[in-house]
Amino acid sequence: MGFPVVLGIESSCDETGAGLVSGGRLLGHALASSMDEHARFGGVVPEIAARAHVHALIPVVDSALERAGLRMPDIDAVAVTTGPGLSGALQVGLAGAKALAYALGVPLHGVHHLAGHVAVDTLEHGPLPVPCVVLIVSGGHTSLLLVRDLARDPIVHLGDTLDDAAGECFDKVARVFGLPYPGGPAIDRAARAGEPGAVTLPRPLSGPRDAPYAFSFSGLKTAAARWAEQHRVQGTPLPVADGAAALQEAVADVLTRKAVAACSAYGVGTLVVVGGVAANSRVRSLAEERCAAAGITLRVPPPALCTDNGAMIAAVGDLLVRAGAEAAPPDVSTDPSAPLRYALLHPAHSAPARAA
Ligand code: KG4
Ligand code: ZN
Repeated sequence: MGFPVVLGIESSCDETGAGLVSGGRLLGHALASSMDEHARFGGVVPEIAARAHVHALIPVVDSALERAGLRMPDIDAVAVTTGPGLSGALQVGLAGAKALAYALGVPLHGVHHLAGHVAVDTLEHGPLPVPCVVLIVSGGHTSLLLVRDLARDPIVHLGDTLDDAAGECFDKVARVFGLPYPGGPAIDRAARAGEPGAVTLPRPLSGPRDAPYAFSFSGLKTAAARWAEQHRVQGTPLPVADGAAALQEAVADVLTRKAVAACSAYGVGTLVVVGGVAANSRVRSLAEERCAAAGITLRVPPPALCTDNGAMIAAVGDLLVRAGAEAAPPDVSTDPSAPLRYALLHPAHSAPARAA
């Protein structure tokens, strides 16, 4: 008998994703995005995202099945993001996943979105070595983690951002620079024609007395915005490419320096860089350079799997199913601000608040 087939469903932000994974292998996945509908607002509008998930969910599941050459009855378990993310968006995914799981008579597993970002690397590079250091950099989170068995062990946070996430910094500065939403890919593209040394930007929390694995990006964001503002006040054209290159260099420098230092301090031989910002070309090249110099093995998922997708939720579901994880109770709920402790995330349906 082969491995069970796990359907993964992702709907925490503006991407509706479905993926099918079995025994660590990606069989097929599909994605729909409401990104274009948010572009004119300069950021994700939660109600628009939730409504788009309602429309996209079943077609996306059908496309993933078609690409995998499978049918509904082939699904042995369903995994779904139960947090963190936008409340309404998460609820649409969970409702759809519950309906599918109960109709098919298969177990449902609620999973932590960020654990999905970590697990997706196994689809490309095989099982994660134990332990490994994981740098997770997305639109809402930036953390350095010590990961052992992702399906069973608690995840140890070596450091987190004290304020903005790295992706948030890219998105907000891009807006000030007049670049389109989402800002990260726009900064990446603009930076190609720029000179990183042309603008001096700070390297926050990089001093000898600073917390070695904590991050801060809000001061960097402000410094980049001030630089842009000066040009506006002086009436000189904004050298966007140089600003983008300098910002990207500062973010990549701080992220990779701290990640490599964590590997060395903890005697860990493998660094895994995941999340939307891991798609950034400079984060990838600088991580490669520094890991090679320090004798550390670097693993980064292919760019298309770094940003939100359904394959990552299927990947973490597959690990959990093979580890014998318990199924979610029928009243499992969502937790929009769930901290990352375990890959499995089964928030209980909270009792209605009592009137004061
Ligand atoms: O992981 P993700 O798709 O969603 C969250 O869970 O947040 O990450 C989205 C973030 C956004 O901030 C986006 O601007 C950033 O990842 N991002 C990038 C690139 N591609 C996506 N940042 C820099 N360079 C990129 N190429
Ligand atoms: Zn994400």
